[in-house]
Amino acid sequence: MATRGMASIQDTLAALVPIKQAELTALKKEHGNKVIGEVTVDQCIGGGRDIKSLFYETSLLDAQEGIRFRGYSIPELQQKLPTFAGPAGQGEPTPEALVWLMLTDKIPTKAEADSLTAELYKRSEIPQHVVRLLKSLPKALHPMSQLVIGLMALQKDSKFAAAYASGVHKKEYWKHSLEDILDVWAKLPEVAALVYSNTYKDGTLGKKDPNLDYSANFARRLGYDQAEFDELMRLYLVIHSDHEGGNASAHATHLVGSTLSDPYLSYSAGLNALAGPLHGLANQEVLGWILDLQQKFKKEGKAVNKETITQFAWETLKSGKVIPGYGHAVLRKTDPRYTSQREFALKYLPDDELFRIVGTIYEVVPDVLTEHGKTKNPYPNVDSVSCLGGRERRKEGWISIFQRSFVNNHISTHFPPSLPPSLPPLALRRAALALRLQGVQLLHRPLWCLACARRLVAVLLGPCVGLAPGEAEECDLQVDPGSCQ
Ligand code: COA
Repeated sequence: MATRGMASIQDTLAALVPIKQAELTALKKEHGNKVIGEVTVDQCIGGGRDIKSLFYETSLLDAQEGIRFRGYSIPELQQKLPTFAGPAGQGEPTPEALVWLMLTDKIPTKAEADSLTAELYKRSEIPQHVVRLLKSLPKALHPMSQLVIGLMALQKDSKFAAAYASGVHKKEYWKHSLEDILDVWAKLPEVAALVYSNTYKDGTLGKKDPNLDYSANFARRLGYDQAEFDELMRLYLVIHSDHEGGNASAHATHLVGSTLSDPYLSYSAGLNALAGPLHGLANQEVLGWILDLQQKFKKEGKAVNKETITQFAWETLKSGKVIPGYGHAVLRKTDPRYTSQREFALKYLPDDELFRIVGTIYEVVPDVLTEHGKTKNPYPNVDSVSCLGGRERRKEGWISIFQRSFVNNHISTHFPPSLPPSLPPLALRRAALALRLQGVQLLHRPLWCLACARRLVAVLLGPCVGLAPGEAEECDLQVDPGSCQ
């Protein structure tokens, strides 16, 4: 890899943003009037399914091969991104390295990834009023709700909101957004760990260490200090970091951001979407499903094997429920995020009972769902194994929701679309490729369709309304047709 001079993420983006702005202006000018598809009534009723309508750059979800981040598959990232140990390939990549890649479209050097780690560490303290608030919450309140409450309380310190209130020029918005994004990202593990400790432990946190990375420090705060757990955390955070822009949480974040709500407000919207059982909560559902079947068969004196799992799966389907951890809005094959976690578990937990059950479920459930005949994708998604991340299983299932929440689609997507673009350059043909929809998890899309025409006008004209001809060029408006699916 070529050696580059060290620049912070802020400086790196400051150099890239003008290039990106120019690219998008050119894209609009040259291709703005091109028709990219037609919309059927079925697609509207189906919630905007498969309508090409999103502009999204940081990752692309292929129905057959799964997610690619800036063009790289998960195994490729594992070979190319810096790790905590240093060289690529020596352990799991760090999420800091991946976020650098997503934001800049460049594989970072180890020094660049480390500079982001240090930046996040520096920002990670949370104010006492947030600590007090979180400690006052009832233990029975779902951790995701507590997480959102904590994040909303942090919003008091939004730098974007302050800059907007002071009248900053719209061309500068991205800088203040980025400040908030880094703060949010840095502070979320603190909030999550506190929620975890308040809910399941004594409210105290493990000790942070400036020599550790983001994932290891989160593990310490939760009370874990094994190197394997750190690696698991890195893997979790990396594979959950982005999944194109159409999934419910990424889209909710982006949509709320398009109103110039600051990143705290936008990100909270995404977390609320993520808390639904068909989305991020699915990994808790999976764990519950496995523990229930274990308990049921234990009580009945039966073994947990292919036959009994098949029986349990049919009972679930006949009672009008979904089998959690299976199916996907876009994917039509086994989720590579499932595969990467399976490989990790084969390495570190080959004899673990729950992991073995997950493996047996994989052997039978695709056939059951195929015979059931409804599900377009009978294969496992990321959640069918991501719940197995720790010793205290039911609790870790909940914690893994946090893990999904940290980065899941938000770090790179909540730059409001009406802001000057803050993401780095991308060849126009790749931008055109990214004009596609995958977010069929947007269950509320039919409603959006009703409001579609009005919203499109609002999105198109919003920040530029009232501008004289010629001034519109200055506006640098990015259109997000995705907000009108
Ligand atoms: N178990 C049972 N039924 C399922 C199913 C599953 N795992 N996945 C899909 N189906 C059903 C749907 O509910 C739908 O039924 P309906 O026609 O009665 O409404 C039908 O199959 C067609 O759905 P499909 O087009 O395949 O999926 P979708 O795009 O509507 O929904 C999910 C995608 C992810 C929401 C869906 O597969 C699901 O509910 N999975 C379980 C929850 C989960 O694991 N979520 C995490 C996703 S990463």
